[in-house]
Amino acid sequence: ALTADDKKVIKCFWPLLSGCSEELGAEAMGRMFITEKRTKTYFPSFDLTPKSTHLKAHGKKVIDALTEAVNHLDNIQGALNKLSDLHAYDLRVDPGNFPLLAQNILVVTAIHFHDKFDICTHIALDKFLDRVACVLTSKYR
Ligand code: HEM
Repeated sequence: ALTADDKKVIKCFWPLLSGCSEELGAEAMGRMFITEKRTKTYFPSFDLTPKSTHLKAHGKKVIDALTEAVNHLDNIQGALNKLSDLHAYDLRVDPGNFPLLAQNILVVTAIHFHDKFDICTHIALDKFLDRVACVLTSKYR
């Protein structure tokens, strides 16, 4: 579970990400599509070339949803409840894909903010993204 220190670190670090949600979100999605080609099948009508308008718009939505979760670290389940329903019942995204996106969000964060990405930040963000993935896949059970 997220400790009080983890929460402090996340809240302190997150404005860096939310401040460039479009760019970082697009890059994380783009890297997921390249590193795990099968994830592309969920987006048949998207232009998935790097930095496309679709990728930027969608990347921003993803990071903004995570910002919602950061704003409700004590109730991530509640904050992402509608998104859990959407991914489980409507989109039917395979649960195995969530850690893939989480991994790529961590990678682009580390690249963009390498001077601030210390081990505490790494651990806290990893736990946070893992928690989000758990919430978004909770409806499958
Ligand atoms: C849509 C967030 C993971 C596939 C969305 C939307 C958000 C979102 C905010 C837009 C919902 C709306 O328009 O109301 C997230 C978050 C994730 C995540 C926070 C994990 C950190 C994934 C993964 C996949 C996926 C792993 C598949 C590989 C989709 C698809 C849509 C969608 C297909 C609909 C896109 C469209 O047609 O506009 N997601 N998502 N998501 N997501 Fe996710």
